[in-house]
Amino acid sequence: MPSIRPALVAGFALAAATAAVAHGAPKSKAEQAIDYRHSVYHVIAWNVHLMQPQVEGKAPYDKDAFATQAAHVAALVPMLPEGFPEGSFVKGKTEAKPAIWEKRAEFDELMKRFAAKSSALADVAKGGDLAKIKPAFNDLTQACKACHDKFKED
Ligand code: HEC
Repeated sequence: MPSIRPALVAGFALAAATAAVAHGAPKSKAEQAIDYRHSVYHVIAWNVHLMQPQVEGKAPYDKDAFATQAAHVAALVPMLPEGFPEGSFVKGKTEAKPAIWEKRAEFDELMKRFAAKSSALADVAKGGDLAKIKPAFNDLTQACKACHDKFKED
């Protein structure tokens, strides 16, 4: 029955259009960038929050899982800078401070340091030596704090 296919396609198209309407007006480029960076931070934080109790002895240390979590963070950090394009400040939708775009070199430097610390943690995590992992993990969370203190609203 060849006539069924176009009807199905039309049905899907209608469903897609309805979904688009249900989500309201299309988002601006700035809002899309904000969504993007929020998503990346959420995945980073997910992994950091899995690693933290292992480092603190509040959850059993799982060498392989930890190494994977650290590798995921190291892979994600380089995806962050593109989430802060010029003009992607939208009042009420972001906790990013406008200072990011006024002091971009300083922000980029903190990002670079963040990338270096996340790679360093991923490297030591492969070895499974908690005595080395702990300081590397603390360095990483210090890098979060250094940037949040300066460039993120509380
Ligand atoms: C170089 C700067 C920088 C570093 C380093 C950094 N952040 Fe952030 N982070 C920000 C900024 C700016 C925002 C606000 C983004 C926004 O609201 O648009 C943010 C937002 C967040 C958010 C909230 C996302 C949301 O949906 O509101 C989480 C969670 C987060 N960061 C976790 C972390 C963690 C965990 C680390 C370290 C492992 C880290 N960040 C390192 C700058 C940084």
